[in-house]
Amino acid sequence: MQVLVIGAAGMVGRKLAQRLAGDGVLGAEVIDSMLLVDVVSPTVLPGGVRVETVVSDLCELGVACGVTAARPEVIFDLAAVVSGEAEIDFEKGYRVNLDATRHLLEAVRTVGDGYRPRVVFSSSVAVFGPPFPDVIGDEQATTPATSYGTQKAIVELLLADYSRRGFIDGVGVRLPTICVRPGAPNRAASGFFSGVIREPLNGREAVLPVSRDVRHWFASPRAAVRFLVRAATMDTSELGLRRSLTMPGVSATVDEEIAALRRVGGDQAVALIRDEPDEMIARMVGSWPRAFDARRAAALGFVAETDFDEIVRVYVDDELDGPTLDGQGRL
Ligand SMILES: NC(=O)c1ccc[n+]([C@@H]2O[C@H](COP(=O)([O-])OP(=O)(O)OC[C@H]3O[C@@H](n4cnc5c(N)ncnc54)[C@H](O)[C@@H]3O)[C@@H](O)[C@H]2O)c1
Repeated sequence: MQVLVIGAAGMVGRKLAQRLAGDGVLGAEVIDSMLLVDVVSPTVLPGGVRVETVVSDLCELGVACGVTAARPEVIFDLAAVVSGEAEIDFEKGYRVNLDATRHLLEAVRTVGDGYRPRVVFSSSVAVFGPPFPDVIGDEQATTPATSYGTQKAIVELLLADYSRRGFIDGVGVRLPTICVRPGAPNRAASGFFSGVIREPLNGREAVLPVSRDVRHWFASPRAAVRFLVRAATMDTSELGLRRSLTMPGVSATVDEEIAALRRVGGDQAVALIRDEPDEMIARMVGSWPRAFDARRAAALGFVAETDFDEIVRVYVDDELDGPTLDGQGRL
């Protein structure tokens, strides 16, 4: 089978490509080749799978037709402008988060001739807006409170309609905030949720722009990849017209995150967190959901971590060198 990953140089895309190249299979199917597409050069991975990379902007006309010409059976659509940037640059947000995906769906539709790939779209819990119940169920209406959430919600509708019309077999995966995000901080308004763990564990200061009682919904990068793989391989006949699923996750406050940090990095790591309130970020985060009862996805085999300590452990295992930890698991 052929697999296309769009946004393959991103944090989730890189980890997904790495996992697929390592596994060599997706469900019961052997992966013959992978096409990795991004505006910046995706990493080519060693492994048994033939990997081709394309540096292209999906917003440009013709690019989507080019990358779907070989009729990949599975398409992961992960390219996006993150929440903070989509709020600051309105036009860019709509161009990348909506128009580029529309180009992709149209490119697939116009191939025709029975071509109906599985399209896995990385949506977000930002499709939901206040007022929220304490725990949000699967029946919550999508009423986004940000441009980013609105763009994701529109694509969810397109995914459902293109699936209903038989052009694609789509699954929307509403990812929780992925934490701990490795690498340099990005422009996501949610970036500090990772920063308060990642920066201190690497001996650097972290800025906390919101109050410590802020609660949010998390899963690790490892869980995100698991969700995408499950979405690519699941039996979609159980989805009906509701093609997007809220993913399971861990509900935690910043205080609970910091307690988990203390258990791994000790007091000296926690001391590196500096409170610096940011009104715009606090306002955006205040409009985000805090906890879900994601039973629909759970029943369909999507599995997340069970507590925040596990999320920190995944970061330590996957991103930090073992020798930097002493016998008590402290840095
Ligand atoms: N990380 C999270 O916490 C989180 C939470 C919810 C949803 N999501 C969604 O999951 C997906 C992956 O997230 P991520 O954290 O890896 O994001 P990321 O920003 O690390 O990666 C996105 C990638 O898309 C690429 N891209 C942007 N515009 C493009 C274009 N026009 N053409 C081709 N490539 C383009 C970027 O270069 C980048 O490599 C995104 O769709 C994001 O909205 C992420």
